Order: sequence, then structure tokens, then C-alpha cells
Amino acid sequence: MSGDRELDVVVFGATGFVGQLVAGYLADHAPPGVRIGLAGRSERRLADIRARLGGAASSWPLLVADCADVRSLAALARAARVIATTVGPYRRQGLALVEACASVGTDYADLTGEVLFMRDSIDRYHGVAAGTGARIVHSCGFDSIPSDLGVLLLHHAARADDAGDLEDTTLVVTALRGGISGGTLASGMGQWDEMRASAQARRLVEDPYALSPDRGAEPDLGGQSDLQWARHAADLGIWVGPFIMAGLNTRVVRRSNALHNWAYGRRFRYREVTGFGSSLTAPVQAAAVAAGAKALMTGLAFPPSRALLGTVLPRPGQGPSDKTRRAGYFRIQIHTRTSAGMRYLGKIEAQGDPGYAATSVMLGESALCLALDRDRLPDRAGVLTPATAMGTTLAERLQAAGHTLTAQRITRLAP
Ligand SMILES: NC(=O)c1ccc[n+]([C@@H]2O[C@H](COP(=O)([O-])OP(=O)(O)OC[C@H]3O[C@@H](n4cnc5c(N)ncnc54)[C@H](OP(=O)(O)O)[C@@H]3O)[C@@H](O)[C@H]2O)c1
Repeated sequence: MSGDRELDVVVFGATGFVGQLVAGYLADHAPPGVRIGLAGRSERRLADIRARLGGAASSWPLLVADCADVRSLAALARAARVIATTVGPYRRQGLALVEACASVGTDYADLTGEVLFMRDSIDRYHGVAAGTGARIVHSCGFDSIPSDLGVLLLHHAARADDAGDLEDTTLVVTALRGGISGGTLASGMGQWDEMRASAQARRLVEDPYALSPDRGAEPDLGGQSDLQWARHAADLGIWVGPFIMAGLNTRVVRRSNALHNWAYGRRFRYREVTGFGSSLTAPVQAAAVAAGAKALMTGLAFPPSRALLGTVLPRPGQGPSDKTRRAGYFRIQIHTRTSAGMRYLGKIEAQGDPGYAATSVMLGESALCLALDRDRLPDRAGVLTPATAMGTTLAERLQAAGHTLTAQRITRLAP
């Protein structure tokens, strides 16, 4: 339906912190001949960004659109095969663009980490997008591509060995270094405010199956709440603490399982944690990091302390420096056991600040994957996840871009 479009990919939000990084990634890495445009509210600021990018970007068209103007979003959706949007907070700004893309069969990729926004998008536009053939793909950055593709690769590895379904599966963040942008903080605070104001919103966000296509059909596997404090994980032999993005990533991975008709397994239990190893100091480190994260969340929850923190934390449009982005990295392991008693280990790693440098690679490659690899994508439309929309085709792209994504059978759990 979108084959006759003027452009292949449009980056919407190109004047924002992450939007500029995504545009820069595409300027440096999109194959010659791919037709790319930059979109945002101000033509003048878009022109400044384009001039700074230079090179291949010099001739990219500029498109003016505002989320408050649905006609401009309809024109944007009709102009391209894929819209990659970094306009956030998505809960506040995002739904009208999902509607515009779903209505005319335009593929869409974003960086949202907001469960309430995604639930609304699913409820209102999954059927519309399935009807027009649009792939609406949320969370195409560090949240939640490593989790979602990592588990998909484990599923494929176990299936290739005829090793049964995935059962207890734990993602462990073993190393992570990076910064945060004002846009990410604003998006997180928006959802926390809503959860504090509404018991219904809180219940939804806390539901492990918050993003399920059919909540009533999900298996009852007992408690699956996200880890809140430090503890010893006897099955892994290490100390673990909470991972801040678990509340989003686990819901995305469970949605992928359900959209795959529970191909990972009906007894697939999934959690995400930060790993601290097994040294004598590991329990102290795990407890200190868990307490620090709680203190920051509490500080951001109340207006007086939020105002105080606001004087030191980045504002919208600001984020980690070039040096911080280059020095960042992440290393993730995913451990799983199958119904046939086999163990597998997934590894997902990349150099570069996870939320910004690595994320701009992930969103840029997702947009190229949707625009250029259509013949190799799963035959599926609607409000999807990275794994269900792009699957191993995206994994191959990220590997070619220098990210590590592997899944292997192991005889014993790695330390
Ligand atoms: N999933 C991940 O791993 C990940 C990583 C990083 C960021 N993120 C998410 O990405 C989003 C963007 O973050 P950021 O740091 O880049 O934020 P930002 O710097 O504040 O950028 C926000 C962008 O949205 C645009 N915008 C705001 N209101 C608009 C409207 N009404 N119409 C059109 N455009 C509008 C802004 O345009 P103006 O310049 O005109 O104001 C700007 O381009 C956040 O939601 C963040 O949580 C996710």
C-alpha cells in the first residue's frame, strides 16, 4: 500500500536530542539511493540540523508537522513508507501519529518506554493497522530491542535443536554505562505521575501481561512481579538487583510470545535483573544500587525534590555529551531452561551509550529494515513488537552494524 511513496524513511522529531542522532546515523549509514526526509515543527531548525549533518543529508527534504495538527500528521504519513518518530513523551504527543500511519498503511517505529501509551495504541489501532497492512512498532531502542530479539534468538536456537519450549528465562544486565536525556526523564515522569494519580493506571502498568493481545488467554504462572530489591539468585549463583527498564521490556517480550501464538511456550516465565556477580562485596553493591534507584524515583515523584533535581538533571533537548556517548556500552546475558531440560545462553552487547549511541543505531536500522527488507519480514501487521515485526532480519542488520546478538546451548550456566 505504501510502495508509491515519495520517501522511504522520515525521521520525525529530528530537532530533538535522539532525533538528531538517528538522523546522523542514517546520513552516515543508509545505502545510497534511500530517500530520507527530516520532519519537525520548525522548518528553520530542521534546515539548521540538515546543514550540520551535511554530506548525504544535504539534499534531504524537510517536512513540517506538529502533533497538535492532525492534517499535518496525515500528510506526513502519506509522504513515506516508514516514519521513525522520536517525538516524546509519546503518551502526550504520540497517539495521533499512530492513527495517521495505521490509517494509510505506513510503517512506524518509535522509542517509547511508556506502557500506558502502548496499551492505548494497541486497543485503538491494532485492528486498523492490521486492516491496512501497517506495521506499528513501538520500543525500537535499547528499550526493548535487546530483550525482545535476545529472547527470540533463544527460541530459535532451542527450536532448531528440538529442545522444547522456553521456561524460566532471566535477562541479566552484566555491565552498563551511559547517560540520560531530558526527553527520557520527561517521559518517565509523565507515566509515574499518571500512576500516582490513578489506581487503574498503576494496576495496568504493574500487570506482567499489560501489553497482551488477549489478557484472558494468558497462562497463570503465579507471581511475576519485577524485582524491587537486591537478592541472591540461587539458580544463577549471583547477586541481582532491579533493572530499571524491566517494567517495560518484560511486557514487550510477553506480548511477542502471545503474538507468536505462545511459540516460546505456555510456561515461559521471564524476568529482567541487574547482575552484581558473586564476590564478597556483591550483596552490598546490589543493595546500594537498588536503594539509589529507589531514592532517585522517590525524589522525582514529589514536586519540591523534583524541582531541586531539575536544576542538575538534563532538560528536554539535552542529553549525554559526545564523549559520554562514545564511552558508553552495555553487556547483557539471557539465561533460559527449556522443557526438555536444556540450557541456553544469549548474549547481547554493543559499544556506545545504550540509550543514545546504541539506540540511534537500533532505531535507524529498524527504519531501514521496515523500508528495505519488506520481502524478508514476518507476514504480520498491526501494533507489533520488534521481534514480531522484524525478527531475525533486524538481528542480522544489527549484527552487521557491529552489535553482538548470539544464542547458544550451554552445558552449565555461565558464572
Ligand atoms: N527506548 C529507548 O531506548 C529510548 C532512548 C532514548 C530516548 N527515548 C525516548 O525518546 C523520546 C525523545 O527523547 P529526547 O531526549 O530526544 O527528547 P527531546 O530532546 O525533548 O526531543 C523531543 C522532540 O519532540 C518534538 N516535539 C515535541 N512536541 C512536539 C509536537 N507537538 N509536534 C511535533 N514535534 C514535537 C520536539 O520538537 P521541538 O524541537 O520543536 O521542540 C523534539 O524534536 C522520549 O520519549 C524518550 O523517552 C527512548
